Formats: sequence, C-alpha cells, structure tokens
Amino acid sequence: MSVLPIRAYGDPVLKKKAEAVTPEHPDLKELIDDMWETMYKASGLGLAAPQVGKSLRIFVIDASPFGEEEPRLAGFKKVFLNAQILEEKGKTWSFNEGCLSFPGMREDISRPPQIRIRYQDENFNEYEEEYSGLAARIIQHEYDHIEGTLMVDRMMPLKRTLLRRKLSNISKGLVDVDYKMKFPLKKK
Ligand code: NI
Repeated sequence: MSVLPIRAYGDPVLKKKAEAVTPEHPDLKELIDDMWETMYKASGLGLAAPQVGKSLRIFVIDASPFGEEEPRLAGFKKVFLNAQILEEKGKTWSFNEGCLSFPGMREDISRPPQIRIRYQDENFNEYEEEYSGLAARIIQHEYDHIEGTLMVDRMMPLKRTLLRRKLSNISKGLVDVDYKMKFPLKKK
C-alpha cells in the first residue's frame, strides 16, 4: 500500500465529473487500498478518488471515530463505487465541514439532512440505502467530489470572495499541512 499525494484546491481533476468504474478496471483493489492508507495518514473521515488524481466514481468513508458521539456512526466504514444520490430531503442544516484538499479551512455548509443512495461495494454488489444526520453529511461531501463539486461551490459568493486569498494560498502550497499534497500553482 502506498500513500498518494492529495490534490489541493485549484487542481483541474477536482472539477471534473468522475467516470464510472467497472470490475475490469486495472488495479482497482490497489487503488482502494491506497485511498484508505492515504485517508488515514491525513486523519480524514473520507476521501474521493479525484482527490488522489483519479477521475473515478470511488470514495471511501470511515466515520467510526465519531461513534462515541453519534452511535449511528459506530462501525460506519465503507467503500462507495458508482454512487448515485437518488433523493435528498428535509430542511437544510448547516455543519462545519473540512476537506483534505483545503488544508486549514473549515466552513459552514448547508445541505438537506436525509439522502437515499445507490452504490456498489468493492465487490460490485449493489445497495440502495438511506442515511441521515452526520452519516448523510459525510456521504454528501464525498459524493460532491465525484461530481466535480467542491466546498467552495457550496458557499455564498460573498463568502467565496472573502476567502479568495486563503484559497489562492492553498493552490500555491502556502499552507501548513502535515500530509503529502500536490499543489497546482506551487513554484518549483
Ligand atoms: Ni473533501
């Protein structure tokens, strides 16, 4: 297993809608193993394939560290392949989100509290499930990544403007970060 560099904000791969994965995809198991390794190394709760430079519909989530605060998250560790959110409902709520592609940044993002999702596991078994609360929130964030949508795209334009310098510093690598990253505008 290897730790892959995480792509920072500004990398074009983060803005692309990711492609479906098939069981024939070469080295799929290795990629998923590397994604786990990379996510744990960065102390993340979730990681999507575009964040390691692969425009594929894959994300991994391990929310079990939250299990003590929210019992529904105990043991929530899953690989999602080819996920499709079928429905989002309820009154939107705000939660302070972070993202490994935006080191040092946490922002309040509004999303609906309930989702229905169809996805495949690493063996391509298909599931349709409902999630709510924090579990739904983490899935929605990772799902956005495979759709090419980022935290900043979910913010009010004024907020985005206020964060302009911070965002530009992230792209340039002018941030403190203790995991391996690749910055699109870093000067050599
Ligand atoms: Ni993220």
